[in-house]
Amino acid sequence: MKVGVIGSGDVAKSLASGFLKHGHDVVIGTRDSAKLKDWAAQNSGARVGSFRDAAEFGQLIVLAVKGSVATEALRQAGISSLAGKPVIDTTNPIAEAPPQNGVLKYFTTLDESLMERLQREFPDAHFVKAFNSVGNASMVDPQFEGGKPTMFICGNDDGAKKTVRTILYQFGWEPEDMGKVEGARAIEPLCMLWCIPGFLRNDWTHAFKLLKQG
Ligand SMILES: NC(=O)c1ccc[n+]([C@@H]2O[C@H](COP(=O)([O-])OP(=O)(O)OC[C@H]3O[C@@H](n4cnc5c(N)ncnc54)[C@H](OP(=O)(O)O)[C@@H]3O)[C@@H](O)[C@H]2O)c1
Repeated sequence: MKVGVIGSGDVAKSLASGFLKHGHDVVIGTRDSAKLKDWAAQNSGARVGSFRDAAEFGQLIVLAVKGSVATEALRQAGISSLAGKPVIDTTNPIAEAPPQNGVLKYFTTLDESLMERLQREFPDAHFVKAFNSVGNASMVDPQFEGGKPTMFICGNDDGAKKTVRTILYQFGWEPEDMGKVEGARAIEPLCMLWCIPGFLRNDWTHAFKLLKQG
């Protein structure tokens, strides 16, 4: 697929490298291409452009920016370049305030997730929450003794979720569909849970798995 990655941080770089590794075409977008100079040198075949270049190129979009600027970054990418496309939303609504005993603070509430805000602001984009509650080092081809980890996803558009499920299988995950956009109210806080061992014990090497009977 043609994939447009919006962002230049660790998540954007890890996922963009993963898409390239698995045979996809990638344009990665930033406001400052100098930030991606080293990454581009190590990832032949990748193209670096603006947020808008990435969004226009992608049949599938990946949103990987700081949660507090997600709306702004998507506006810069252009509303029309997102219309009708699946948008993998990796973001978390992390507030500026420091964690309390290892528990991150969010600027959203349990009755309104960040992805609901984004879906309302960009109604023609098909947001699918994914990759928000695991460290970037384990996003592609994760290796865990307990087998394949679970990636909880949600979103309103079944076609977009099907596309994301296909990518997740390719990247070595077991996708688990948690319903429509409101599912993000439960999935986004999983990042808080995932980070607690990191902040308390510097343990950042785990992932979630849903166990089922029978
Ligand atoms: N780090 C992880 O392992 C991890 C794991 C799961 C989920 N997440 C979530 O994934 C997202 C990305 O995390 P990250 O650590 O890779 O990167 P990050 O440091 O949270 O975000 C960096 C990106 O934000 C963009 N940005 C910053 N200020 C901006 C502004 N005013 N307007 C537009 N764009 C702006 C930057 O754009 P430029 O490229 O133009 O500088 C850059 O692409 C976050 O929401 C995070 O919570 C992170």
